[in-house]
Formats: sequence, structure tokens, C-alpha cells
Amino acid sequence: LGNGPLAGKRVLVTSGPTHEPIDPVRYIANRSSGAQGTAIARALSGLGAEVIFVTGPADVPPPEGVEVVRVGSAREMLTAVEAALPTDAAIFAAAVADWRVKSASDKKLKKTKGGMPALEFEENPDILATVSKLAEGRPGLVVGFAAETDEVIENATSKRQRKGCDWILANDVSPATGIMGGQENAVTLITAEGAEEWPRMTKAQVADRLAQKVADALE
Ligand code: C5P
Repeated sequence: LGNGPLAGKRVLVTSGPTHEPIDPVRYIANRSSGAQGTAIARALSGLGAEVIFVTGPADVPPPEGVEVVRVGSAREMLTAVEAALPTDAAIFAAAVADWRVKSASDKKLKKTKGGMPALEFEENPDILATVSKLAEGRPGLVVGFAAETDEVIENATSKRQRKGCDWILANDVSPATGIMGGQENAVTLITAEGAEEWPRMTKAQVADRLAQKVADALE
């Protein structure tokens, strides 16, 4: 078992995009690389935590020394998260698809003369909100992310309340920031006490700072 301030603590981290199937060979996804979630899992593990890393199909490899659970869709991610509980803390860094294709086909859709498929969507479960609102077995500390393009603090503050999580790390993902898919992040930590703006730093540094905060909170 690890040494460090998080030794003996069990922490769940979700990361990466989800893939929502259209048929057996096609899916809908998003551009999340999994970089920030992976860095957070690595940092928590570095402080001695037992980390359960539930990841969608990400671009970056998972960190060493954590328990990796690979999933595809949002519903699979929820199942894996529920199976990982209870934990002392849970960090939801995954970019979960809001919608899935309503009746994904179990056969490959074919080109047919004169017709094109019309996709109908339905809502995916909100994993962060589901875990935050658990009456039994809720992690002691639940952290979500909010990728916003405008009114970052206002939107993230109301998101924290709506979802019922303890902290939100809000980031501005306007294209001009270069954050989505980049090496750096500029975040604001929103808690019940208020907003704390962190300077722009690498995703690894954001992860280290968050892991230290988690350690302080669980102490
Ligand atoms: O509502 P929004 O997608 O902006 O919320 C972002 C936060 O909620 C992230 O922490 C993300 O991991 C989490 N989330 C989730 N399940 C969803 C949608 C978002 O866990 N279906």
C-alpha cells in the first residue's frame, strides 16, 4: 500500500469521452483526450490513494498503478462507477455524452436507395448527479468539472448546486483558450465557500493541486 497523505483512501476518477453506438461499427463521440482525468488519477495515486480509474476510450494511456476499468458508453460508465462505490472521494472528469442514439441497431446500417437514416436521441444518465444525490454510499467528497464558454463562474456555481456535488472545477473552453486537447488548463475551484481562481498551469499541475486539496479535505 502507498505512502502519503491519501494512504488508505479509496478514490474514484472518471475520465475520457464516451462512445455512444449507432450500430456495431459506428458511434458518436466527443473530443475529450482524457488528459486531465489521467493526470488527476496519477496525482492521487502519487499521494498514496487507491485509485479506481473508470475511463472511456481516451487518447492518452491510463496511469500506472491504478485499477483501470474501461467502458464505452455513458450507461456502461454509470454501471462501472456504481460497482466501484463506496469510495472516500470521487472525481468526475469524464466528458460524458449527454445523449445516446435511441434505438442503436444491432446490425450495420446499410445504404439504401432513396433513404438515409434519421437518428433519434434520448438522454443519458447524469453520473455525477446520480452519485452526488445518493442517500446511501455517497462518497464523502464529490468533485465535478464544468466546461463552459461564457459566464464561467455563474454557470459553474449553479451547476454545483443543481448536481449536488461538493466542488466544481470550472474551465473556460472557448476555442481561443486552446485548452480542449491542449497541455494547459485554467480553472476556478467552486465550493460552498465561493470561487478560487487558479493561475493558468499545466494539466499535471492542476491535478497535483487538486489532489493536495482532496488530501486536505479527507484528513
Ligand atoms: O452538465 P455537464 O456535462 O456540463 O457537467 C459536467 C460534469 O458532470 C463533469 O464532471 C462530468 O464528468 C459530469 N457528467 C456526468 N454524467 C453526465 C454528464 C456529465 O458524470 N451524463
